[in-house]
Order: sequence, then C-alpha cells, then structure tokens
Amino acid sequence: MPIVAVISQKGGPGKSTVSMNLAIAAYLDNKSVAVLDTDPQCSISQWGDIREAEGTSEPVVVAIPPSRLKQAIATTEEDDTDIVIIDTAPFNSEGILTAARLSDICIVPCRPSILDLSAITTTLDLCSAADAKVGLLLNAVKSHPQLQEATSALKDLAGPKGKRQICPLAWWDRTDYSKAVVDGLGVLEFAPSSKAAKEVKQLYKWLCDNVTT
Ligand SMILES: Nc1ncnc2c1ncn2[C@@H]1O[C@H](COP(=O)(O)OP(=O)(O)O)[C@@H](O)[C@H]1O
Ligand SMILES: [Mg+2]
Repeated sequence: MPIVAVISQKGGPGKSTVSMNLAIAAYLDNKSVAVLDTDPQCSISQWGDIREAEGTSEPVVVAIPPSRLKQAIATTEEDDTDIVIIDTAPFNSEGILTAARLSDICIVPCRPSILDLSAITTTLDLCSAADAKVGLLLNAVKSHPQLQEATSALKDLAGPKGKRQICPLAWWDRTDYSKAVVDGLGVLEFAPSSKAAKEVKQLYKWLCDNVTT
C-alpha cells in the first residue's frame, strides 16, 4: 500500500491541490483511496464534504492530527486501502517530519518564484532528516522561460542526492485547478480533456512508476 505525503514548509504551493488531484486520479484508476488531512485548516476535508453532499463518498477523507497518523495508517491497512495520500500543514515541522517518516514518497510542490525556490531548502532538510524519497514538482508555472530558470534552480537546490528527484513534468498555472475545487472535484472529473487533466495523469503515472513500498 503506497503512502504518499504531500509536503512543504510553505503555505500555498499547491499541497492540497496536488493531494486532491492525485486522490481522484487513483480513484478513477479503480483504487481504494484514503486521504488523511493533517492540516488544521482542513481544506481537503472541506473538499471531501462537498463531494459527500453531492453524493460521492469516495475517496474517503479523514481529518487527523499528525500525532495520530500512525494509527490512521494502520486502520487504512486493515481496510485494504490501495493508496494513502497525506495532505499536510505548512510551518508544522514536527507534523511534516512525522508524515515524511511514515510515507514511501514525499511530493514537494514548489512555485517557480525565487522566494519559493529558496524556501524549499528547509523542506528538503526535513526530508533528509526523515530519510524520505522525494519528488519535487514545479507548480503553477506561467511561461517557458520561467520553467527553464526554475528547473535549473531546483536542480542546484536539490543537489545530487539519490533520493531526491525532480518530477520530469510541471503543472502550469491553470484556472481548472481552482475551479474544480469549488465543485468538490478533481480536474480529471471537472475537465477530463483539459491540459490540467493531462498534467494530473502524468504526475499520477510518474508516482506509480516511482513509489516503492
Ligand atoms: N497549478 C495551479 N494553477 C492555478 N491555481 C493553482 C494551481 N495550484 C494551486 N492553485 C491554487 O493556489 C491556491 C493554493 O493552493 P493549495 O493547494 O491550497 O496550496 P497549499 O495546500 O500548499 O497551501 C489555491 O487557490 C489553488 O486552487
Ligand atoms: Mg493545503
């Protein structure tokens, strides 16, 4: 059962967006999915509530403090869950460390701005402390030159560490990501033929190819 933590010390790089869209990609791939929401802001739980109100009870979304993550993961194992996705809060180093230690891979979304890129080092330090496998994802890219510059900056920051990889794809700044949330959907449901949907499929495939349990 792959356990995927989506982490960043920063607010707003797209942790919940990545978590919900990966959860929907796995759900549409006929996997049983559990989303564990460790962020007290409960963004992804609210998204799950909208789904429930619309009559869709999957994927299961459970709000849980990081201190109870281990027990929550044990419960998902008993339930024969195929994949667990942990959404996390920024700033809570202890919570991020716990999620990183308990997961098989950490996805770290990062916006392609200088400030976001330089802030990523504290997240990578936590990943190293947890000895976690990491996939760095550039998110909300606005132009090709920006993508090029950010990718090369990310390469310098990530360093030649075997456990850290830069995902060979990026998510662009697309309104479909924010519009889908309003209806409690992932972009694969909201706009299945969109460019955003293609990006989500690519990330899900990369994840399936790179996660080792
Ligand atoms: N690729 C993207 N394109 C456009 N908007 C995005 C993208 N990724 C995230 N967003 C928007 O950015 C905001 C912050 O994203 P969110 O996933 O809540 O970040 P975090 O969970 O890391 O705080 C949300 O309004 C979300 O819809
Ligand atoms: Mg969030």
